[in-house]
Amino acid sequence: MNLPADNPHQDPSPFGLYHHPADASAGEWNVSRSERPHMYRIQHRRANGETHIDTVVDLDNLEAKLHKWRREGFIRRESGMAKKKPAHRTSFISDLRATFAPKPEIANSSANMALVGRVPMPRGAGGPLVPPVNPAYLFAARSDNVLLDIAENRRILLIGHTGTGKTSLIEQVAARTNQGVLRSNMNGQTTVGDFVGFWTVKGGETIWVDGVLPTAMREGLWLIVDEVDFAEPAILAVLTAVLEPGGRLLLKERGNEIVAPHPSFRLFATANAVGSMGQYRHLYQGANLMNEAFLDRWRVYHIDYLSREDEAQVLQRTFGPRVTAAMAETLASIAAACREAFAREDLASAFSTRRLLDWTDLMLRTGDPETAAGPTIYSKISADDATLIRSIIQHHIAPEG
Ligand SMILES: Nc1ncnc2c1ncn2[C@@H]1O[C@H](COP(=O)(O)OP(=O)(O)OP(=O)(O)O)[C@@H](O)[C@H]1O
Ligand SMILES: [Mg+2]
Repeated sequence: MNLPADNPHQDPSPFGLYHHPADASAGEWNVSRSERPHMYRIQHRRANGETHIDTVVDLDNLEAKLHKWRREGFIRRESGMAKKKPAHRTSFISDLRATFAPKPEIANSSANMALVGRVPMPRGAGGPLVPPVNPAYLFAARSDNVLLDIAENRRILLIGHTGTGKTSLIEQVAARTNQGVLRSNMNGQTTVGDFVGFWTVKGGETIWVDGVLPTAMREGLWLIVDEVDFAEPAILAVLTAVLEPGGRLLLKERGNEIVAPHPSFRLFATANAVGSMGQYRHLYQGANLMNEAFLDRWRVYHIDYLSREDEAQVLQRTFGPRVTAAMAETLASIAAACREAFAREDLASAFSTRRLLDWTDLMLRTGDPETAAGPTIYSKISADDATLIRSIIQHHIAPEG
């Protein structure tokens, strides 16, 4: 280490207070300039404020001390001269805020725009592929940035546990903007042929059939590639080519025909165990690791479960007055408690919004939460998990009588 004696602004500077974040009783070391050139003053102050070491050391000695303190868990809290942060560091956020403004083309609402949640979005061309509107769908604040990215023609990868609302977010934006959507699930039999297209013989004639990708690109549809972490490498290679906005697709099978994207074309992908969700890969067997170059080409949003309040609201919006506010709150609390147990690894299965809605639906028919939980929850999970979830339910819902 090259410690500067005369220029404390030069990094790394040794000056400042060193404290132990986990052990206040360890006291504080202070390193400051000494009057003697190329020497350093070190002082130790005990937790009671008493200074009992005050000495001047040379560079070698200081380096040895710094090394020892770091090993013991001390970290530096800057003081004195070194406390002054460089101007650019303190002004960064205020500079950023001063220049920040919503993009005018997005902020400008007009006849060709639809308000989705809080965000004005361009309208699509309609057609049979527009998903049906789910009037109970709630655009939580978490979706605002995703909507702005769609308007800006970004490629969006949504990651999160099963049933948190990844696919439905895109579908409901499409439903509100009158935009057609195609979906392609990579966890199954989707082949490169299905995705890109293939030659076939029809009525004695050999014809080309576009796969979902060129269809969406030519017709200005949105394409949702579900469970992209299960896609075979050949499909990932094709996808990568169109990940840049304006990226073209080369159909080698059709004599290198180039397919340019329609301005309304958008590409989305969903995955359960990619990027920051990688720690849960063991729960989604068969999922592939996505390489960094691939991930870098997307805006990757982590979609977590709805908050308890939002989920209670979704229950009431979905089932109307049959679910009272108190019932909705209880049900959302049960889901939240199951998710906490899952996070602690006490439960091996996640409790999705889909599961909660399905359970509630059946409970409204059977009039009994326990009976309804059979086909919608217990039958899908291990006996141990079922026992724990049953006890969570019983904790929140007292038996009649
Ligand atoms: N904000 C919301 N408002 C209303 N319903 C929601 C909301 N988010 C999710 N849901 C409901 O939760 C269910 C699951 O959502 P969705 O299918 O989008 O999950 P997913 O994350 O795509 O799951 P998977 O990873 O299994 O594909 C759907 O029935 C959906 O309508
Ligand atoms: Mg989905």
